[in-house]
Parts: sequence; structure tokens; C-alpha cells
Amino acid sequence: MADGGPITILFTDVQGSTQLRARHGDRVADEILHDHEAIVRRAIGAYGGAEVAFLGDGFMATFGTPAAGLSCAIAIQQALQSYGRDNADRRIRVRIGLHTGDAVHRDGTLYGQAVHVASRVMSEAVGGQVLVTAAVRDPVAATGTFSFVDRGLYWLRGFPDRRRLYELEWGRDDAGRAAGPVQTPFVGRERERADLRRAVEDTRLGHGSLVLVSGEAGVGKTRLTQEIDAEADARGLRVLVGHSTRDAGRAPYLPFTEMVEQGMVTPRSPETLRHALGEAAPEIARIAPALRLVVPDIPAPLDLPPEQARRYLWLSMREFIGRAAADRPLLLVFEDLHWADESTLLLLEYLSLHVAEMPVMLVGTFRDDEVEPSSPLARILNQLVRERRVTRITLRPLTRDGVAALVTGLTGQRPPAALVRGIYAQRARATRSSPRSSTCTWPSRGCCSTTRASSAATCASRTWRCPPASAWSSGSGWPGCRRRPSGRWSRPPCGAGCSSSTWSSGWPASPAPTCSTPLTRPSGRG
Ligand SMILES: Nc1ncnc2c1ncn2[C@@H]1O[C@H](COP(=O)(O)OP(=O)(O)O)[C@@H](O)[C@H]1O
Ligand SMILES: [Mg+2]
Repeated sequence: MADGGPITILFTDVQGSTQLRARHGDRVADEILHDHEAIVRRAIGAYGGAEVAFLGDGFMATFGTPAAGLSCAIAIQQALQSYGRDNADRRIRVRIGLHTGDAVHRDGTLYGQAVHVASRVMSEAVGGQVLVTAAVRDPVAATGTFSFVDRGLYWLRGFPDRRRLYELEWGRDDAGRAAGPVQTPFVGRERERADLRRAVEDTRLGHGSLVLVSGEAGVGKTRLTQEIDAEADARGLRVLVGHSTRDAGRAPYLPFTEMVEQGMVTPRSPETLRHALGEAAPEIARIAPALRLVVPDIPAPLDLPPEQARRYLWLSMREFIGRAAADRPLLLVFEDLHWADESTLLLLEYLSLHVAEMPVMLVGTFRDDEVEPSSPLARILNQLVRERRVTRITLRPLTRDGVAALVTGLTGQRPPAALVRGIYAQRARATRSSPRSSTCTWPSRGCCSTTRASSAATCASRTWRCPPASAWSSGSGWPGCRRRPSGRWSRPPCGAGCSSSTWSSGWPASPAPTCSTPLTRPSGRG
């Protein structure tokens, strides 16, 4: 290959080659890998590529044009797919990355930043996937020969900026397989997704972290984490999800119990579960008694004074999680932490001290408008932020472009601008009038105060007099104030029909305000 112009660099890698050996034994694994090498070499040759390096489980090759590199990638994936069909017990999955840029040949190898980009792009792909940069996609986009799906922004390890990657469609058997109920097509949230992707990748490399995703109910916290769960799962992380619920009677450690129970029904083997439990088993069984059904010979827990018992439980949990993650990195998702009991939050905080050295990613979601300043969550959050132990992602409602993309995804057609404007305006009105800017922290203190600023600045940071306590205890509340499902109250909506001056000088005297902007919030588990 002549130096000078840009070249297209292709990297391949066998996904899970270690597991391949564990599953098949060395002899059969060697046969499978040998077949794979022959398939990849044939495809490189067929499209005029040059093999630069064979890296044990994968290849580096170069091509004169993006089209040649893309055709080779398709040929490799299709050939491996048909190999898997013919040899069902010998399936092998390869991830591929491509980038086009300048590189120089020296001493039989290739140098240049473009080589690193191509290699990093490959490492973002999962088995069966072909990811490419815009430098590969753009020159062929107009030809219509290849089809791509925009996979959004990624932080490539070692590069300062996010880069947009595209997945090359090649007709895989399992493409687009629906996981669970049909969802709206995912739109927007590109920067947030890139940050979460980076945290997943760091976790895979042994450096976990705590990420908290917040926003009002229905804004998309769960959906964003579900998207990341699926990507993390494809990258080999085990994903466990624990919920806090409004009606849980504040049962301590409920999300942890749920996660242990999930881990119990899907262990890699009973031995791996036993090994992960180790000496922590009696303590873990304290919060997940069902464990004793699966592992019947767990001894009774130590009888310790309450404070020591708590510390010992935390230590046991940390050891259990650490051993489980050594078998397979973990992504633990804590949904709806605004409802979590204090024990759960304290254990989460304790774990956040240790995850940087563990392949464990902790993700929590919570409604920021439901966090009282005096609540354990607010206290712990402040501390985590102060000590830089948390990455915070705050979700705002979708932008106008996001709304347009959502409608396009649902209907298959680009909606008229007027429709998008209408939906967006409706959403914005609901947001302005929503209690996110106006959680009441009273009545014991005899006043309501906003807990955070909203986009409608006039609604923010006010303190105003509350109605008499009798009005609240009657259950009917104060006209204009809404009792929320949590049992707390929100101030009247400050949206259309209600001038900001209504609120500027405190709670208005009777008669109560007549603002009628509806509070349209989804109810139930958010
Ligand atoms: N970025 C998005 N793209 C497409 N649909 C979304 C997006 N965010 C949220 N949704 C949809 O909106 C609904 C509410 O989102 P959800 O994640 O449950 O909100 P939250 O957890 O913040 O209460 C769900 O049906 C979800 O699929
Ligand atoms: Mg949710």
C-alpha cells in the first residue's frame, strides 16, 4: 500500500476468546479460531486489502477505499454467520471497527493517529457489529450501496472529543431483535449516552463509578439507563436492577435484595454463586432470605450490636459484589432513589467509596423534584458531590429536534413543523406548571419554599406563606395547591393564566389563585 493519501483501516477481534477456550477446551477452540482466521484472510484478499498485523484474536488490515473496507467487513460477518449456521456448536462472533485517515508504513507496521482511532472504534463494537467513523461513512453515503445506523456519540479512549459512530448494516440474523415490550424509538440524549458509555467501558477495564441520573417523572431516566443496560450487557457486563417503591413500607435494602434475588436465579453456575458469597453468605442472607433456599447450608449470621451489625453487612456486601464482579463486571441500577430508605442510600454511598478499584458501575435514578432538602438523599448527594464521588446527569425535557425525531420514529414520516411546535409547546407548558420547581417543604415550618429553580425563573426560589394547617389536614388542601401521590403538596401551577407577580410577594391571601393550568404528570412508577 502506498503512503500518501488516506487509507481505510480495519480492525477485527474475536469476542470472548477466553470463554471460547473455557467452553470448548483448547483443541476445539484452536480449530474454531483457525477457521476464523481463514475466513477473515479470504475476505481481506477478496477486496484487495493488505494484512498489516495478525493480533492473536484479530487482524489489522488496510484498504485503498472505504467501500473496499466496508465490503470486506460485510463479507467477514456474513461468512462467520453462515459458519455458525453450519456448525451450531462452534459459533464465533467478531467485532469490527473501521476508520479512514492518514497513516504511514514503517518497519512492516502502520503508524498514525488514524490507526488508534480505528482500533478504538473496534473496541466500542460488540460481537457481530461493524462500527465506523464518519470518515468511512460520508464518502459512500451518497452511493446508497451501504446502509448505516447512527449509533450516537462515543468517547474513544485516549481522545479528547466525542466522536459519532455508525453501525454498518449487513443483514445479521439477530439484528433488530426486540428485547421486551415494543418501545418508542430512542431519540436524543447523545451526550448523556456518551458519558454513560464511557463509564461502562471504564468499568470493563476495572474502574467502576457511581452515576446518578435525575430529572422529573417521565423525562426519560429509566429509558436512558435501559439503553445503556443493553449496551453494557452486549459488552459482557451483568446488569442487575433494583427498585425503590413508594409503597414498600421503607423496607431496608430493598433494591439490594432484588438484585441478589436476580443474581440467584441467573448465576453462571451454583458454584460461582457460592464462591461469590464466600464468608459473606450469612450476612447477605439477612437481606435476601430466599438465598437459603438455593444455598441451604448457610450458617446463622453473627449476633452483633446494631451499629456493628450494619458495618459488617456493608463489608460483606462489598466483598460479595467484588467477588461476583471478578467473575463478570457488574452494572447495578438503582431505580427511583427518591423513594429509597436510608439504609439503601448509606450502603450505596459506602460502595461508592470502593468502586473505583472494582469492575462495578453503580447507576441511580431519582426525581430531583421529589428530594426534600432535609432528606437523606439530599444529604448524601451533597456529600458525594463535594467529594467528587459521583457523576451527575440531569435530564431536561426533549428538545424540539428530539420531539421531531420521536414522531418520525413512531410514524415513519417527518412531521410538519407546526405539529412539532404544538407538541413542544404543550410539553413546555406542562413542565412550567409542574411541581418540579415547587416542592413544598412545610407545613411544620409554616411556609412553603421552592427547592430548586425551574426553567420558568419567575417560579423559582420563592418562599411564601402556607394556608392554615386545618386546610391541609382536611384533605382538600388549599385551592390551587395539589396533593401529590407521595402525600406531599405542591404549590399552584405557575404557568399560563397565572402571572408571575402572583407569587412574587408570598402566598396570596384568600381568595386563592385561580390558575388552572393542568398538572399533567404520569403517575405510578416513573
Ligand atoms: N429519549 C427517549 N426516546 C424515546 N422515548 C423515550 C425517551 N425517553 C423517554 N422515552 C419514553 O417516555 C416514557 C417515559 O420515560 P421513562 O424513562 O419511564 O421516564 P422516567 O424514568 O424519567 O420517569 C417511556 O415510554 C419511554 O420509553
Ligand atoms: Mg423511571
